[in-house]
Amino acid sequence: MNNTPVLEIKNVSVCFDGFYALTDVNANVKRNSIHFFIGPNGAGKTTLLDIICGKTKPTEGNVIYNTQDGHSVRLTGLPEYQIVRHGIGRKFQVPSVFKSLSVKDNMLLSLKGHKSIIDCIFGKPSKEEFEHIDYVLERVGLKERTDICAGTLAHGEKQWLEIAMQLVQKPEIIMLDEPAAGMGKLETFKTGEILKDIKKECTIIVIEHDMDFVRQTADIVTVLHEGKVLTEGLVDEVLANETVQAVYLGRSKAVS
Ligand SMILES: Nc1ncnc2c1ncn2[C@@H]1O[C@H](COP(=O)(O)OP(=O)(O)OP(=O)(O)O)[C@@H](O)[C@H]1O
Ligand SMILES: [Mg+2]
Repeated sequence: MNNTPVLEIKNVSVCFDGFYALTDVNANVKRNSIHFFIGPNGAGKTTLLDIICGKTKPTEGNVIYNTQDGHSVRLTGLPEYQIVRHGIGRKFQVPSVFKSLSVKDNMLLSLKGHKSIIDCIFGKPSKEEFEHIDYVLERVGLKERTDICAGTLAHGEKQWLEIAMQLVQKPEIIMLDEPAAGMGKLETFKTGEILKDIKKECTIIVIEHDMDFVRQTADIVTVLHEGKVLTEGLVDEVLANETVQAVYLGRSKAVS
């Protein structure tokens, strides 16, 4: 068993015009875990994902990605497309599926999108690729919706399609910014069960405000507050921490 963390966030600080959105953030993400970053609004959660995927450059610090076969890659400084090529994908909060295309065509675009343009135009998907798409759609509960226009999917189903579009690329790490936002209780629960299933194949980094969802799904929770790591640990001990409860005052319903 390889115990090296798949991702090491080391002494990361980000300064926007004199304002520190993150200050000396350290965290290790275990392979095949579901690692949550939680914290009040403005804590720096989205900024941290921006750092990992290369959208924002840190003022100080590094993010290191450790591959399955023992190589270490310094992600900091790499352009976004190269980070994606290393198998590190991100789903944004607002679903961005192609509404006029079918569920299957959205999956095909995602599968082929990172290949060359020639391959995209002339390369017919192979039988294996279609089978892989079916397999992934089944895992997110959309197998019966394959030929439906993505625009007609319910909000939750669109989110699952986006997760599937990440998953079909066989990523090493997927990052989800508030995947349960706008979902009802049942859809949120189902999203958690989907994540617990897919962590067997990749590592999942999640930002979320819904504490029931965090309790249901998290392996490790890191709490950010005003750009700093407040605490990190197993979900029950973190949520029982008095300081964590104090920073969530005003959001106390979420933590109760
Ligand atoms: N490009 C930027 N320029 C200046 N300030 C920024 C920039 N991006 C983020 N910030 C600031 O950094 C802080 C952290 O923002 P961030 O979006 O990371 O918080 P968050 O934890 O994701 O909050 P939320 O829960 O509301 O999504 C906020 O005060 C925000 O205004
Ligand atoms: Mg955010």
